[in-house]
Amino acid sequence: MALITLAPDVYSVGVKDPDLAIFDIVIPTECGTTYNAYLVKGSDKTALIDCVKRPFSDEFIQNITDICPLESIDYVIVNHSEPDHSGALVELLQLRPDAEVLFTRAAKSFIDNLVNRDYRHRIVKDGEELQLGGKTLVFQETPFLHWPDTMLTWLKEDRILFTCDFLGAHYSSESNFNDELKDPEAAQRAFEFYYATIMRPYKDYILKATQRVRELNPKIVAPSHGPILRKDPLSYLDYYEERASILNRIHEVRVPVVYVSAYGNTEAMARKVAEGLAEGGVTPVLLNAVETPIAAIVDEFEKASGFLIGTPTLNADVPHPILELVASLVFLNMRGKPASVFGSYGWSGEAIRTVHDILQSMRMKVGPDPIKARMTPSKAELEECVNFGRTFAEIVKAPAAK
Ligand SMILES: Cc1cc2nc3c(=O)[nH]c(=O)nc-3n(C[C@H](O)[C@H](O)[C@H](O)COP(=O)(O)O)c2cc1C
Ligand SMILES: [Fe+2]
Ligand SMILES: [Fe+2]
Repeated sequence: MALITLAPDVYSVGVKDPDLAIFDIVIPTECGTTYNAYLVKGSDKTALIDCVKRPFSDEFIQNITDICPLESIDYVIVNHSEPDHSGALVELLQLRPDAEVLFTRAAKSFIDNLVNRDYRHRIVKDGEELQLGGKTLVFQETPFLHWPDTMLTWLKEDRILFTCDFLGAHYSSESNFNDELKDPEAAQRAFEFYYATIMRPYKDYILKATQRVRELNPKIVAPSHGPILRKDPLSYLDYYEERASILNRIHEVRVPVVYVSAYGNTEAMARKVAEGLAEGGVTPVLLNAVETPIAAIVDEFEKASGFLIGTPTLNADVPHPILELVASLVFLNMRGKPASVFGSYGWSGEAIRTVHDILQSMRMKVGPDPIKARMTPSKAELEECVNFGRTFAEIVKAPAAK
């Protein structure tokens, strides 16, 4: 394989996984992904930055040995211990047991439980430097990009920032650098989708990190998924900042009322709930989960101060679009937000209790108590829906809820 060089003695040694269809169980990866890893050779020491997913160990080790023997690796820097970047560390340490593994304090237990035997390691601190001889690595602790363990590694002399998941994209192609892409729009879409499905819950951490990255002013951003960002790396940072600060630009209290309805009964309730919300001084956003793409609903939830779900009971259960929506909340951080549920039923009405219990187990602040109506809601029941909306508006407007 032709060597991929970022700067003198700085190489990309990762692997491509173009056929990956789904990442981490829930994230579709139309263009596959890559697990990038980097080798930095100083005059005294050599460091490997990140590893790859375990099934790709052989190819990874081959890529390294095309450049230098494994015995010359002194350090393995673990920016993030999720197995897509650490899996092959196990094989690497079998072949090169004397390498010292460097990571944050939070990463230690993950890597201990990955390797499951003794290995040489050291916890590094924020701002700590590692001298390789003419190449200096500086560690930047940046938790929750994407796990509690994450850090960035800065190569001072070459102004390269190794960011692991941060600023990455699930995008595999023949090109390794963003200035060589045949389809830059597709790569940009993958970058944006990656933000929406992986980074979005960590807004506060992102905004802290983007500030630090700006101060470093990197010439190259080298993530561990997708193209290496050599052309205009800061524009990617702009995108993260813009998206992560979305709530600063929302000046109203928005409450999505998401429902499904076979015969219009739950829908009639939803309309009355929305009326109550508006009377209570918040902005209701009525969404039919059958007609609205799930991604659009999730985008709406991101801007919301709380949410309400309307569901009938079908075959003793919750209709699939509502379950899918609840499962998609994994893409956001909604913990502690007010939420509740309502709906129409025929004879048993299990869906209301099920959604209630799910919301509670997801640590939403559930209230007011769910309401349900048997078949077509009566005038009194519709009035109850208005009150339900009004009460919910009071809850979301209370300072603790925001
Ligand atoms: C296929 C099907 C299965 C149903 N299963 C149940 C059930 O198990 N328990 C129940 O309480 N109601 C059940 N119902 C009744 C609905 O919950 C009830 O008709 C409700 O009013 C529908 O509200 P909607 O018009 O908002 O869909 C079922 C209805 C359908 C169409
Ligand atoms: Fe990750
Ligand atoms: Fe990753």
